[in-house]
Amino acid sequence: MIDLSGRSAIVTGGATGLGRAFAAALAAAGADVTLCDVREDALAVAESLAGPGRVQGLVADVSKRADLELLVDAAREGYGGVDLLVHNAGRWARTPVSDAYEKAVVDWDEIMGTNLRGLLLLSRMCVPLMIERGGGDIVNISTYYVLPAKSPGTNPPDTDLYNASKWALNGFTQAWAMALAEQNIRVNGVCMGPTDTEMLRGLWKGDPPADFAATWMQPEEIAQLMLDLIEDGRSGENIGAWIGEPVALSPSPARHRTITG
Ligand SMILES: NC(=O)c1ccc[n+]([C@@H]2O[C@H](COP(=O)([O-])OP(=O)(O)OC[C@H]3O[C@@H](n4cnc5c(N)ncnc54)[C@H](O)[C@@H]3O)[C@@H](O)[C@H]2O)c1
Repeated sequence: MIDLSGRSAIVTGGATGLGRAFAAALAAAGADVTLCDVREDALAVAESLAGPGRVQGLVADVSKRADLELLVDAAREGYGGVDLLVHNAGRWARTPVSDAYEKAVVDWDEIMGTNLRGLLLLSRMCVPLMIERGGGDIVNISTYYVLPAKSPGTNPPDTDLYNASKWALNGFTQAWAMALAEQNIRVNGVCMGPTDTEMLRGLWKGDPPADFAATWMQPEEIAQLMLDLIEDGRSGENIGAWIGEPVALSPSPARHRTITG
């Protein structure tokens, strides 16, 4: 298993679901983790995840600049800087194009504020700190919607804002991977299919169909994929994870070796 002792990680949306699994996996690998969430239990969750790496939690909204400044200060003051950044906080909502105009505006602010504005601001704050420490890793949590479809149901038409936010996130992944390669900062997207979290369970009010629940992926599998990705050292790739297939890195394509030199 990768040893991340002495490295400082930030995980957004870390109180539950995939974010909690990412924070737990990083701490288990020895990293010192600063997690944030809008949920009040962020601090208690952080305490429960510590070991062997330290874990601190903050109640912070990634769409708010002042909250992000506090988050980055906590990582810098507590753990000396930032080496690893997992942009996990994400909002999903049905936003059919037939919605009322005023609802669409509110949905835009909520979804884009978390899924994109937070990603941009936090990266801008952390990249200089990574450069100070000689490099780092940014992992953007995306979705299989941005990959070539293997099954019907990707890019569903009634979640246009969510879909658009993840395609835009993909654009950041591609651009930053190239722009930051010389600074030894790797940037990748993790693009999984359905995974057992509160967000997905919410679609069935907590009671998903048994045949679906028997197949979806577990957050811990995706967290291991994230660790494998960091250990592998590739950059500029959207890593897919699909129901019914092994959750594992694909062979690294030659173009990524070119990007990372
Ligand atoms: N679960 C899936 O099947 C699935 C599939 C593909 C992609 N994803 C992506 O994975 C990520 C995590 O999803 P999940 O299923 O664990 O969701 P979740 O809703 O179960 O957990 C998300 C966490 O983020 C927090 N959060 C939301 N907005 C925030 C904000 N503005 N600031 C700080 N924290 C905030 C929530 O409070 C929650 O704790 C998201 O980016 C999502 O789009 C999930």
